[in-house]
Amino acid sequence: MNNELSINSSITPKKSLKIAIIGSGFMGMSIAKGILKVNPKTDLTMTDIYEERLEFIKDTLSIKASSDNIATCKDANVIILAVKPYAVSKILNEISKVCNNDKLIISIAAGVTIDTIEKHLDKVPVIRAMPNICVQVQEGAIAYALGNYATEKHKSTTELILGAVGLTIEIEESKLDAVTGLSGSGPAYIFMAIEALSDGGVLSGLPRDISNKLAAQTVIGSAKMYLETGLHAGALKDMVTSPGGTTINGVKVLEDKGMRSAFIGAVKAATDRSKELS
Ligand SMILES: NC(=O)c1ccc[n+]([C@@H]2O[C@H](COP(=O)([O-])OP(=O)(O)OC[C@H]3O[C@@H](n4cnc5c(N)ncnc54)[C@H](OP(=O)(O)O)[C@@H]3O)[C@@H](O)[C@H]2O)c1
Repeated sequence: MNNELSINSSITPKKSLKIAIIGSGFMGMSIAKGILKVNPKTDLTMTDIYEERLEFIKDTLSIKASSDNIATCKDANVIILAVKPYAVSKILNEISKVCNNDKLIISIAAGVTIDTIEKHLDKVPVIRAMPNICVQVQEGAIAYALGNYATEKHKSTTELILGAVGLTIEIEESKLDAVTGLSGSGPAYIFMAIEALSDGGVLSGLPRDISNKLAAQTVIGSAKMYLETGLHAGALKDMVTSPGGTTINGVKVLEDKGMRSAFIGAVKAATDRSKELS
């Protein structure tokens, strides 16, 4: 995350970075907002098929918005595909004639493989990324895999851009189903955990609004402490559990109810389903 975003592209050092986001739905808009938050002067154009949405983008984000994918991609050096998986092939067929190896394609379409994308193009660098919904608040967990023509420079460019909306981690493409099962689907598990913790607070006498906030902040604080201290999660748990105290009594209930096993099973089931769908 830094202000180089619109100054120098690592893939085109002599030219400024020009980003096109194809598809202005939830994910496209979230990525655009994150990029503009890091540098409001980023050269960014968004496309969509809905005129009202394009007008909304121009009005609210003060950037270029167009329904012309070909002209937008011709002018860009980084193209982010943020459309639903079914639309990817059609768009690649449309833009392939203006895509060469001076450009970088970053696809976030779930389940669309690098191979599928590369087959539509002539040796164009491709990166396939799997973000999660938390990109909306610039706290996404984003794993990405490099295509056959993507280099370290493309990797740096991807980290620069997607780093604006969260934590980026490179991984082999074959592991992206597991990423989907963990961090892709994970926000739903954590939202359920927040809701359940809050219910526990209410059951114990807390007002709902206070219980909601305390539950959510407990998740944020625990995750931040885990990432910042680098300590093992078990060691951090031990720091909160004094002999015969309150927390160990709560922990015993979670163990009795199979909380760990439930989370492990949820990630595995979502990973298996992701494999089935791709
Ligand atoms: N939501 C998540 O948590 C999440 C996580 C990881 C990855 N993803 C991936 O992110 C991608 C985008 O998801 P989303 O929820 O933002 O989708 P979305 O809300 O459907 O946004 C995509 C937008 O692009 C439009 N579009 C369709 N064809 C187009 C074309 N030819 N040219 C330009 N725009 C076109 C769509 O119109 P129509 O509605 O008419 O199609 C829609 O307005 C998906 O592939 C999804 O798998 C999502």
